[in-house]
Amino acid sequence: MSQHYSIALDGPSGAGKSTIAKTIAKELNYIYLDTGAMYRAFGLYAIENGIDFTCEKYIQERDRATRELLNSFNLDIRYEQGEQKVIVNGKDCTGLIRTPEVSIAASKVAVLPAVRKRMVELQRSIAARTNVVMDGRDIGTYVLPNAQIKIFITASSVARAKRRFQELQAKGMKDITFEQVHSDMQFRDRNDSSRAFAPLSRANDATLLDTTNLDLQESIETVRRIIMRKLKLSQGGI
Ligand code: DC
Repeated sequence: MSQHYSIALDGPSGAGKSTIAKTIAKELNYIYLDTGAMYRAFGLYAIENGIDFTCEKYIQERDRATRELLNSFNLDIRYEQGEQKVIVNGKDCTGLIRTPEVSIAASKVAVLPAVRKRMVELQRSIAARTNVVMDGRDIGTYVLPNAQIKIFITASSVARAKRRFQELQAKGMKDITFEQVHSDMQFRDRNDSSRAFAPLSRANDATLLDTTNLDLQESIETVRRIIMRKLKLSQGGI
C-alpha cells in the first residue's frame, strides 16, 4: 500500500498559514485542504438558518439548534483548477464565507464537539487517500497526529490583524476598522484556544515559526526549507 504524506500547518488566524499552505501544496503537487473553510461553511449555514451568533444570551439553546442543523448539512469539498471549492447542499459557498460575520460564527460553531467530529471525519478521509497540506488549528494535535511534518505558524496579534485588515480593504470591505478586526481576532484567539475539545495548540513535535517580522515571501521560504529538510530525512524524499 502506498503511503500518503501529510503536512499539518496550524496556528491562529492571520499568521499566513493559508497562503503558505497553498503555495507549498502547489509546489509539491499535493492537495491543499483549508479546514477553516469547512467551519466557515457550517457557520454560514447556521446564520442562513436563523442562528444569531451576535447574541450571548441563551447559548445552550443556540448550541442545541446549531447541532440540529448538522442533520441537514451536507458538505462537499471539490477542486477546480487546483482551487478548493466548498459546496453546501449542492450550492457553492466559496465566495460567501470570508466575511467578518462568518469568521466569528465559524469560531463559535467550532467549539461544538459534534461539529468538529463531522469535519474531522471528512478531513481524515481526504488525508487517507492523497498527499495533503492541511491547515487549521488542531491538525497536528488531533486530526492527523501522525502527520509526517507539523509546523505551528504564529505572529503577534497586531501583525496578524494588520494583514487581515489589508486583505479586507483590498476586497472592498471599507467600512470595517482596524480596531474591529483586531478585536475580532483577539476574540477568536481566545475562543479557539480555550475550547475544551481539540483547541488551538502547538503539537509537541511541531516546529514553531513566528512570522511577525517576516514578509510573505520570507515566510514561504522558511516553511519550504523546513519541509524539504524533513522530507529528505523521512524515507529519502517525497
Ligand atoms: O482558519 P480560519 O480563520 O478560516 O478558521 C475559521 C474558524 O474555524 C477559526 O476561528 C476556528 C475554526 N477552526 C477550527 O476550530 N479548527 C480548524 N482546524 C480550522 C478552523
